Amino acid sequence: MENAAQVIAKRKSVRTFEDRPLSTEDRHALADMLESKGNPFGVPVEFRFLDAEKHGLKSPALVGERYYVAAKVKRAGNFEIAFGYEFERFCLEAAAAGLGTVMLAASLNREAFEQAMQVGNDEVMPVASPVGYPAKKRSMRERAMRKAIGADDRLAFGELFFAGSFDSPLLPDDAGGLLAALEAVQLAPSAANKQPWRLVVDGSKVHFYEQRTVKESPLGDVQKVDMGIALVHFDLVARESGFVTRFEQDDPGIASPEGCEYIATCEVAR
Ligand SMILES: Cc1cc2nc3c(=O)[nH]c(=O)nc-3n(C[C@H](O)[C@H](O)[C@H](O)COP(=O)(O)O)c2cc1C
Repeated sequence: MENAAQVIAKRKSVRTFEDRPLSTEDRHALADMLESKGNPFGVPVEFRFLDAEKHGLKSPALVGERYYVAAKVKRAGNFEIAFGYEFERFCLEAAAAGLGTVMLAASLNREAFEQAMQVGNDEVMPVASPVGYPAKKRSMRERAMRKAIGADDRLAFGELFFAGSFDSPLLPDDAGGLLAALEAVQLAPSAANKQPWRLVVDGSKVHFYEQRTVKESPLGDVQKVDMGIALVHFDLVARESGFVTRFEQDDPGIASPEGCEYIATCEVAR
């Protein structure tokens, strides 16, 4: 994706759509976006484009939507993280093409979605998203919702990012070539805007942790989807900043706050 940092800086969730069909051109572009492009965990994620009316798909959070994109994944190790990585890459590609999205984990008639996606017993559909042209003005409902969640707020840089250990907050001035990639993580969307990502930068290794505040559900840990989103934001912008990235899961054993779980490490090299 070109200009990932710019797309990320401009992206906002879209819950109010122009009530009109997608152009043939955009339908074709979407078909390309929905081809799986893989993730660092090698877990297959299957996307589908869905017509809302045909499948009876609804969300109380939305106005004017005609289409959805949903994806499903087998319950294997790292499935939520892999899913978040791939679904967010799709959302960013859609944003780059002028299409609005918002991940929905809760605000949707899930049964109809799972039926449309033919979700098997060993599979999960963690979120789905509407896709369409953003309306010029947000609905009252959307504005109220954004305000209630504090959707435009983000935790401070030094609350999310650390240098070497959790005792030492990382300041933007000390982030060097990683500044843009870290800012891209700070801007990431997350369920209820809880921003569970904590990163410890240790030389060429960036360790990702999840500060969990939401209980796991039968659908898995939604905050691990958030972690996958943070990973793809970091990955795309670190590469755009001239780094080669490589992911591994090898807990460095850094003392972490209570409820803060090691997720993965990204090694960056010039
Ligand atoms: C995994 C995940 C699940 C979400 N579920 C919902 C949802 O059920 N309903 C909703 O209205 N928004 C949902 N959101 C959107 C978030 O509320 C939104 O991303 C956050 O408030 C930040 O706003 P922004 O995306 O405009 O930056 C979800 C986001 C993520 C990442």
